[in-house]
Amino acid sequence: MKNDIAVIILAAGKSTRMKSDLPKVLHSLCGRPMLGYVLDLVAALKPGKVVTVLGYRQELVRKVIPSGVKACIQKRLLGTADAVKSGLAALKGFKGTVLVLYGDNPLLKKGSLKKLLDYHIKNNVDATLLTAQLKKPAGYGRIIRDKCFNICGIVEEKDADEVQKDIKEINTGIMVFKKEILERNLGRIRANNLKKEYYLTDLIGILAKKGCLVDGVKLEDPREALGVNSRAELAKANSLMQQRINEKFMQEGVTIVDPSTTFINFDARIGRDTVIYPFTVIERGVKIGKRCSVGPFAHLREAVELKDEVTAGNFIEMVRAKIGAKTFVKHFSYIGDSSVGSCVNVGAGTVTANFDGLHKNNTVIQDRVNIGSDTIIVAPVKIGRRAVTGAGSVVIKNIPESTVVAGVPARVLRKR
Ligand code: UD1
Ligand code: CA
Repeated sequence: MKNDIAVIILAAGKSTRMKSDLPKVLHSLCGRPMLGYVLDLVAALKPGKVVTVLGYRQELVRKVIPSGVKACIQKRLLGTADAVKSGLAALKGFKGTVLVLYGDNPLLKKGSLKKLLDYHIKNNVDATLLTAQLKKPAGYGRIIRDKCFNICGIVEEKDADEVQKDIKEINTGIMVFKKEILERNLGRIRANNLKKEYYLTDLIGILAKKGCLVDGVKLEDPREALGVNSRAELAKANSLMQQRINEKFMQEGVTIVDPSTTFINFDARIGRDTVIYPFTVIERGVKIGKRCSVGPFAHLREAVELKDEVTAGNFIEMVRAKIGAKTFVKHFSYIGDSSVGSCVNVGAGTVTANFDGLHKNNTVIQDRVNIGSDTIIVAPVKIGRRAVTGAGSVVIKNIPESTVVAGVPARVLRKR
């Protein structure tokens, strides 16, 4: 626990450029609001205090904030400097280092923040900025350095002249301050002429002019700097986050045949030696065992659990379904609200008709059942152990163990 470090996360902004009714920080990357990633990152740093600054539709944002993290309100959205001021009000009595993070900066990694904090503390700097070198810096504040290469200010894109626009070193928005320096000087910032907002970035020029020690640490991987302001940036951030998630699974021993067409939710769990074929979507809360085979073109939706050695093959959709070990669901099937045993074979084209127009109903298929191709199972229904359904059956009643049924509606033909 680093008691002398406090973190302020700015998350009050509207979604102006997103053109959305949802607050920007609640837009999802790989199934999770972007603010969630920032909160996790902060939790991993174990600072003494964490304050989030909320504003636009704060009642919605509050829901993703864990207990133990303070939420304070910025009454009017007057810019990032004003937001920091609101955050500071919740840090009365705290002495030490203040790290400012933006809620729309979800790709940042713990290592980079640690490096920034270590540098700031070790060198006794007054304000340290996390900067990045970008090939295309458009949209970001540019870092202004003097002849001796010392940082002397930040110019926002809107206020930058042509020469400044050419600067490739940008402000990621992440800054560390000595608290008393931040507190003492925040009030010196004047509203920006164009937008009538108080820019936190203006503080850097003010501090440099006063002779405070201002320094910068450059990100090794500039992709971590991505700030999400638009839907296009959201898509880019999503794809970078997906790359990270897929790489993590590969490191853990999962084969992903084509990571660029494999979409796995941040909280999915996948066992070793499972192979995921292309064009597969794996959503929230899905658990996949060892040595499974998934896809191509599989859609595993929320609360799906595959035990070991399951095949969920071509063009399969599953939702709220538990599938037992060594069960095959290999071609064109919809399995919803179902519990399927082990060593079951589900024939091509099988559909669980789980919705009666009003309710979702459950299907139970016990161990070693053999479902013939094109069987429709009208839930609620239970198919007993070792039962067999003929191709094209429509099952509307429970089927006893070890019986063979066929037809529309399915009738018992014989014992097995
Ligand atoms: C900001 C920086 C810019 C930097 C970029 C990095 C300023 C003035 N500019 O620009 O130099 O390159 O981030 O991504 O800081 N917020 C509030 N209250 C407000 C306004 C904003 O809480 O009144 C929050 C937003 O929710 C957001 C963050 O502050 O999480 C940044 O605001 P945003 O409007 O996205 O700033 P940028 O224009 O991206
Ligand atoms: Ca931003």
